[in-house]
Amino acid sequence: MKSKFFVTTPIYYVNDAPHIGHAYTTILADVLARFHRVAGDEVFFLTGLDEHGQKVKQAAEKRNMSAQAHCDDLAPRFLNLWQKLDIRYDDFVRTTQERHKRIVQMVLQKVYEAGDIYVDEYEGWYSVAEERFITETEYATGQFRDVKKIQEKNYFFKMSKYQKKLVEYIETNPGFIQPEHRKNEMLGFLRQPLGDLCISRPKARMDWGIEIPFDRDYVTYVWFDALVNYISIPGYGSDDVKFKKWWPADVHLIGKDILTTHCVYWTTMLFALDLPLPKTIFAHGWWLIGQTKMSKSLGNVVNPLDLIEQHGTDAVRYYLMREMVLGMDANFTQDSFNKCYNSDLANDFGNLLNRVSGLITKNHEGKIPDPGVLTPAEEEIKAQANALQGKVTALINAFQVQEAVSLIIEFVRVLNKYMELQAPWKLAKTDMKAAERVLYTAAESLRIVSVMLSPVMPEKTKTVLDVLGSLGTTASWGQIPVGTILKSHPALFPRIEVEKK
Ligand code: MSP
Repeated sequence: MKSKFFVTTPIYYVNDAPHIGHAYTTILADVLARFHRVAGDEVFFLTGLDEHGQKVKQAAEKRNMSAQAHCDDLAPRFLNLWQKLDIRYDDFVRTTQERHKRIVQMVLQKVYEAGDIYVDEYEGWYSVAEERFITETEYATGQFRDVKKIQEKNYFFKMSKYQKKLVEYIETNPGFIQPEHRKNEMLGFLRQPLGDLCISRPKARMDWGIEIPFDRDYVTYVWFDALVNYISIPGYGSDDVKFKKWWPADVHLIGKDILTTHCVYWTTMLFALDLPLPKTIFAHGWWLIGQTKMSKSLGNVVNPLDLIEQHGTDAVRYYLMREMVLGMDANFTQDSFNKCYNSDLANDFGNLLNRVSGLITKNHEGKIPDPGVLTPAEEEIKAQANALQGKVTALINAFQVQEAVSLIIEFVRVLNKYMELQAPWKLAKTDMKAAERVLYTAAESLRIVSVMLSPVMPEKTKTVLDVLGSLGTTASWGQIPVGTILKSHPALFPRIEVEKK
């Protein structure tokens, strides 16, 4: 059944150039969006930038720039990277845009008038690094850097009021927080009494934010601003028809480090606004570099631009999707990249195209041959090809992207084996009809595989489909036009030559 699919990524802080972690979530969202488009769903894919708050302000100060100039300077780096990575988003928010700021203020006013925001004098430990007040217990751990005691008047959101409701919601909606272990982590966190959330910053201390409409001396806390993008952009408070169409989001994709802000802050904000919660919040793990966290100070940050430069966009997209089991951490190494590329892309997928197009060109006048009557061997391939889309769709709907990609590449292996067994290069000398049947079967299967891999590798699969003279996006058997003249093509994925140590 065709339906709508609204997917979001976190909006990234513009304090530095994007790295592989940011690229990962964005590619993941793009892949899901594209799978849904292939299935015929109507898709809204939202991403963007989180431009307010202390981190961004500090980054700007370091560069001797105004915060806005700094954001304007860095935003194109994200946009260019997304373009290079073939990210097809439907909207791109920058939280400094008027269309967003207006709605944040409206939300603040609404929640204030409903009595869920109050003012209080507060004294506590403030972590500059975390950009929030930490509890005494947290302070005692000594794990927080840049901590200072601050006493000031602030505005608070009555988050505690919704604790019980939230726990009940999580318990009665099993697919809401995924994967399961993150849901349990949140339920564990919610066993402690939930405090209220400080949602203001006095301008005198930090002025880079959205002004609080009922107190001009304050700006709002960056998370109370950023999270609202998920509703401000699909039309909350500005376009009822649009908003009704898209909200609630089908999935907020996030990294595991921003679980609490999404599962607790955001959900209680939505309760206060009397809005439905997103259908799913999915937290993925971290990309580690050779088992350690990626960080600027360690100098091990992987720049996605370098990878694209070396291996092309599609190989990078493929590797990231194929390597990380959604929900778990994954390890990035050049070695695993090379192995994945050479095995799946060069040996399996690229090789299948080479064989099919090479043999058709050599022995069949370069035209897709007529299959004639299929034998049980082809019927088996056909059945597997026809079943592929259903299986992949089920996996994608369950956010098992790695498993979906594995399943498709597994079928490519089956096809290569089928080719070896049937040996159409030999058959061409003894039984032309059989050779034609085999090559038609392989070509048609390759077409279906390409359609199914197109969300992951939009560019390379387009090349394959183009070679096969097929523009269609259907993944059911029998679409390839017999007699089509194949186009010539360069090697799809030239092998990476790995130096032997
Ligand atoms: N601005 C907030 C999000 C607001 S959403 C309303 C933020 N930005 S961030 O730029 O710091 O991080 C964005 C995302 O990148 C997070 O989901 C984080 O988990 C992800 N990643 C940052 N480093 C990562 C890895 N090494 N690996 C995978 N993802 C990681 O938080």
